[in-house]
Amino acid sequence: KNKVIFDTDPGIDDAMAILFAHASGKIDLLGITTVFGNASIENATRNALYLKQRFAIATTVCVGADTPLVVPAGEPTTFVHGQNGLGDIDLPDTQPLKADSRSACDFIIETVRNNPNEVTLVAVGRLTNLALAIQKAPDIANLVKEVIVMGGAFDHNGHTGNVSPYAEANIIGDPHAADIVFTQKWSVTVVGLDVTQQSIMSNAYIQTLREQSAKYGEFIYQISRFYSDFHKQSAGLDGFYVHDSSAVAYLLAPELFKVKRGPIRVVCEGPAIGMALCKTTEKSLSHRWLAAATHTTNMC
Ligand code: BDR
Ligand code: CA
Repeated sequence: KNKVIFDTDPGIDDAMAILFAHASGKIDLLGITTVFGNASIENATRNALYLKQRFAIATTVCVGADTPLVVPAGEPTTFVHGQNGLGDIDLPDTQPLKADSRSACDFIIETVRNNPNEVTLVAVGRLTNLALAIQKAPDIANLVKEVIVMGGAFDHNGHTGNVSPYAEANIIGDPHAADIVFTQKWSVTVVGLDVTQQSIMSNAYIQTLREQSAKYGEFIYQISRFYSDFHKQSAGLDGFYVHDSSAVAYLLAPELFKVKRGPIRVVCEGPAIGMALCKTTEKSLSHRWLAAATHTTNMC
């Protein structure tokens, strides 16, 4: 099984990605580390604990950063994910499970050191926790198996940002953290909007899922109504983009993706703040060069 720490801001599509990872049976979910973004850190953590309890996910939940490294904290994107981060479904007032006493940063460092070259960090929110961990413990760069990020927009076939014309939410939410993560001596694969916006889950598909799975399907149907409405209004879709689950899909089935290699940097100030830039090449020039993934179908 793939040993994974899942760094996340649940978040509707984050919740779907967590369930995908859990239900795949191919992932040993060592931990879920939370970060601000789609919801406040309190709501993101509560949502992770709720998922852990409701779906009996054997994992550890650790609380992560509540603010970016340098730029001012923005408001949670409640217009995409609802006030509670899970599409405003009814959630219990009290949560029986508690988060681990370790911070996300310390949990990442400790777990990676205890499992050298075995842990994949799948990060589908702001990259603050990963940046804090690598800054505090640079040795983990050599100990992590792989970093897989959902973020950025690499403008293949005109795909640009979803927050500004240049920037995607997870990168502009903490551009300095993203730039730190993209310039370390570890292997990073980035699944950007150029991939995830090609993957659309239709409402008809969700309806089928609902009918076929009372456990997962019904829950995904419930939380995704708000998300579907947002996508209808903002993009005219009858369904929604599959952002965070695409990072899990890359981990489980990399053969579905075509990977290009190149160094990635992030614009950290000015009008294009949050823009992730990748100069791709067919050759891998150094181990510090990073990868941007795109669906094979996009390349034909
Ligand atoms: C990313 O932003 C969030 O809304 C999603 O959870 C995803 O991680 C897409 O830009
Ligand atoms: Ca997310």
